[in-house]
Amino acid sequence: MWTITGDSTEYTVNDRIELVAWGPHGVTDGPSAYAFHGKVQYMLPGDVAALEYAPDGLRPFTGADLSVAGHALTWRLDGVEDGDGLTATLVDDVTGLRATLRWRFAPGTDVLERWATLHNGGPEPLTLTRLDSAGFTVPTPAGATLHYLWGQWAQEFTPATTILTRGRFQIGSELGVTGHLFSPTLTIENGDAAYGVGLAWTGSWHLTADADNAGLTRIRAGRSVTGEPVRLGPGETVTTPVAVGVYSADGVDGVARQWHAYERHLAGERLGRTRNVIYNSWEATTFDVTADGQLALADVAASLGVETFVVDDGWFVGRHDDTGGLGDWTPDPAKFPDGFGAFVDAVRAKGLEFGLWVEPEMVNPKSALYAAHPEWIYQAQGRPRSTIRNQYLLNLGREDVFAFVRDTLDGLLTTYPIGYVKWDFNRPRTEADRDTADLDGAHVRNLYRVLDHLRTAHPDVTIEGCAAGGARVDYATAARTDVLWPSDNTAPLDRLRIQHGFLSAHAPHLMSSWVTDAPGLFDVQKRSLAFRFVLASAGVLGIGADITRWSPSERAEAAEWIARYKAVREVITRGEVHRIGGPDQARCAVQYTHGSRVVVLAWNAGGLDGQDTVPARDIRLPLRGLEPTARYRSGTDTYSGSHLMAVGLPVRWTVSHDADLVELERQ
Ligand code: DGJ
Repeated sequence: MWTITGDSTEYTVNDRIELVAWGPHGVTDGPSAYAFHGKVQYMLPGDVAALEYAPDGLRPFTGADLSVAGHALTWRLDGVEDGDGLTATLVDDVTGLRATLRWRFAPGTDVLERWATLHNGGPEPLTLTRLDSAGFTVPTPAGATLHYLWGQWAQEFTPATTILTRGRFQIGSELGVTGHLFSPTLTIENGDAAYGVGLAWTGSWHLTADADNAGLTRIRAGRSVTGEPVRLGPGETVTTPVAVGVYSADGVDGVARQWHAYERHLAGERLGRTRNVIYNSWEATTFDVTADGQLALADVAASLGVETFVVDDGWFVGRHDDTGGLGDWTPDPAKFPDGFGAFVDAVRAKGLEFGLWVEPEMVNPKSALYAAHPEWIYQAQGRPRSTIRNQYLLNLGREDVFAFVRDTLDGLLTTYPIGYVKWDFNRPRTEADRDTADLDGAHVRNLYRVLDHLRTAHPDVTIEGCAAGGARVDYATAARTDVLWPSDNTAPLDRLRIQHGFLSAHAPHLMSSWVTDAPGLFDVQKRSLAFRFVLASAGVLGIGADITRWSPSERAEAAEWIARYKAVREVITRGEVHRIGGPDQARCAVQYTHGSRVVVLAWNAGGLDGQDTVPARDIRLPLRGLEPTARYRSGTDTYSGSHLMAVGLPVRWTVSHDADLVELERQ
């Protein structure tokens, strides 16, 4: 048996490469919850056992992690190495396929990273029809409660729950991108604890939970290669994406905190950078970008205390609407008559860092790039090419396209003093010739190569990941970007729901949010400017409204909120998060704790309590993780930790007071 340890949990595997224990330190010391007794009827033992990485010859009936067309793979263990986590090597003697399995806790967390490297050591080419990263097994004697996030454009990260007593539940994407439809994380509750499983991959993926008949649920996490099998020639190797798993005794919110810790780990030293308050011009001007118009916005932005000014879509030649221009990344001289360099300098002269929107993997049919390279797009010979938002997707898996994208970005970043890039992606792949060895993998790996290159070659540039809102939010993107755009829906109550869901799987330092004047799509109730500022302060604060139209008093209030955000952003972007209640409850708040500082953001998502015409009591927000005997001060009020946790921080809403930012300091 081998045990590897994380911050407060451990994971133990036996020499059959089956799970023995997963839980708090010491959990291995006792009979395994995964062992079984009794006769296996009409199946193989591997269909019942908690196999860590199941080939279809060992687990033919209840869900395998790896399949090769024309073979029923089985394993022979060829060695285990203990050190930097665990490494096990397994071999299928018939094909010569060798799997090197890795387990490793991300330092300082309870997040277990797992992946497999597959090497074709035989003489024949192999077609991998299933290529998962790992299987995670959870004891669910009374069934599993599964929590997941579904969505669509403008409604991303919507939480949902389902109870799985027997059978299969699956979420995923066949879009060649993470997608709007589901997020690649799944939380499994068994009544005693919660377990999270996720996948760090930006292409097609699946998370599949199989609840068996003997009290276990096994979750397979991996790329989806349905319709696009991966071909592995003799001597070739493919490495799966990292699958991540976490155990938490603190329920669904405890799992969320571990995902946050993981994303802070992925950010590395870049977490230490201050997240600037940004202004983004998209909602104010859409494609109607002009130097004068942008500078007028930048003027107001600077006066409010904004730190980075981002020019969104519409700045380059041929981009008057969404029918043209993508691919031709040259500033439009008609829009910037004094030159783009002079424009960027003028923005920076206001004390603002300059940011720019790009969508480098795309091309409009109406563009010089498409005229020069129609062969660069994904297409199926002899079939129509479908546009989405009037654009095609470039096949970034090609080396020439990769070089074009990298050089385009290098060119912009070296020609102009750009400190912030917003990288957008507004259509998934549709038709494509399938004769590439690994179509999906080639695109995704080259995307990572460009992002990794940007971080090395332009280390000071902040990268925002965006994909028609939140269609490319996953742990692999989180490792290569500084901030992520969760949704194009910026309306107050809609956004509150989206952010609440986002924070269940992703950390606040990644959550970009703008204050706008947008009306709701799903909930049209208006909310105060304060509400919208407190909401956008829940992660990385930005403004997206047409601030030239804001009144002097709105601007003064905005400046105050921005100053308050700057004073607490370190707590918000690095603190431990506790979500309190939710958008459909009277209690709706997020608590951030960093050292002795606590910030609580609270919103009134519903009605009022009768406005003093009937008896009413304050809403109480029970805080978490405080020191019971310590005192916490907020202005002139002080509370004990016990009071704040057992009774809660009081808030009272009125028509004009619908949100609050409360700072508490441990005395
Ligand atoms: C979709 C993004 O999500 C928006 O924020 C904006 O950048 C538009 N694309 C621009 O076309």
